[in-house]
Amino acid sequence: MSTAKVRVNDREYELPLVVGSEKETGVDVRKLRAASGVITYDPGYGNTGSCSSGITFIDGEKGILRYRGYPIEQLAVSARFLEVAYLLIEGRLPTQDDFAGFTGRLNGHTMIHEDMKKFFEGYPPTAHPMAILSMMVSALSTYYRDTRAPADINLNIVRLIAKAITIAAFSYKKSIGQPFVYPLNHFTYTENFLHMMFAVPAEEYQVPAVVDEALNMLLILHADHEQNCSTATVRMVGSSEASLFASISAGINALSGPLHGGANQKVIEMLQRILDDGGDHQKYVAKAKDKEDAFRLMGFGHRVYKNYDPRARLLKQAADDVLDSLGVNDPLLDIARQLEEVALHDDYFVERKLYPNVDFYSGIIYRAMGIPTNMFTVMFALGRLPGWIAHWKEMVSDPHGRIHRPRQIYTGETERGLVPMAER
Ligand code: SDX
Repeated sequence: MSTAKVRVNDREYELPLVVGSEKETGVDVRKLRAASGVITYDPGYGNTGSCSSGITFIDGEKGILRYRGYPIEQLAVSARFLEVAYLLIEGRLPTQDDFAGFTGRLNGHTMIHEDMKKFFEGYPPTAHPMAILSMMVSALSTYYRDTRAPADINLNIVRLIAKAITIAAFSYKKSIGQPFVYPLNHFTYTENFLHMMFAVPAEEYQVPAVVDEALNMLLILHADHEQNCSTATVRMVGSSEASLFASISAGINALSGPLHGGANQKVIEMLQRILDDGGDHQKYVAKAKDKEDAFRLMGFGHRVYKNYDPRARLLKQAADDVLDSLGVNDPLLDIARQLEEVALHDDYFVERKLYPNVDFYSGIIYRAMGIPTNMFTVMFALGRLPGWIAHWKEMVSDPHGRIHRPRQIYTGETERGLVPMAER
């Protein structure tokens, strides 16, 4: 077995190396503290493997992304989103019978309990749909038994995927004061969502095929991304034996942050700000480079990708195709392209290997589809749901799984005596 040698003061310790199927190598430090008294130190876990996983492989240097071994470029253009969801969760692509059974089970659970509809009456119209989504997912555990029994887990996975689009669409209808549109199960998953989002009782709504195809690709591109912040959160929360619904609700909250899934909303707000400010993209590139300025180029940079995010490459092309098909001419797309062009040749971005990430173009497409900005991160969550579920399921199936409990380096006060308040 290959090993690493670590010298601490005057002693040397030999630690095993773990090597993955793509030759990724890690130093197994599980015994380091017991042997040497020291821990590893890696704030933000940028160089720490929290688990081994067989779900998604990313090569950040080469811009490679594969779900269960299948390249994202193939899945994004040839698969249906629920096929990819099945692949991530079950570990293999579904046969036609598998797929019919899976979609049939989902169709039996697309409605939410009528009493859950009343929750929406309590939310203000300005409530952010991500907050509603996390609350409603957490509330599912008050309606359904959410134990670790395999039958419960499998049923709740179906309930969660099926109801997520209904909850998301209802939160949109709530925000615009329109009546809820119930799911119709003759639709596909993506058609059902779009119909619930945009149909109004007063008229027939036909789901445009180009919008449905774009949504299918967007959901696939967001479906998983190994140990990102929200997936690591789902694993962290689930490691305490918290329920599926509680763990996924925590993941939704982690995703909402502007440095993570919330970035797609911030990208559009940034592009709109540049447009409103006269469209001078160079001014904002300069702001992004200015260390005195907190402004960041949202949708740029990535902890793992030090090459072009393969999803951004696919979304850049899709933005063109969808806007052309819909006859939409969005000035924000022009600004996005100008920003990318400048940043990809500017030393500041090149030296730091800052490329467009998945959030840079996705919002342009959502806008063209008629989806409002405050729903963008909900769209990310709908895509990421099967990835979160797959990781939660992989973690709970690990016979050697332990509660996640990182260590720290304490930098506070050393011991001191308590002085009674009267004497302070
Ligand atoms: C997602 O992890 C995943 O896989 C996430 C995700 C997924 O599918 O789950 O891919 C989805 O979250 C994509 C990222 C979306 N976020 C954004 O677009 C927000 C803008 N980007 C950043 O804030 C940043 O790039 C992060 C948060 C994405 C990554 O941050 P890191 O890895 O902690 O990098 P860093 O902040 O340490 O930056 C390194 C350097 C710094 O400069 P120096 O201190 O070296 O001089 O790069 C600079 C940063 O200032 N930098 C940027 C920048 N991103 C990094 N400068 C300007 N604009 C940016 N966007």
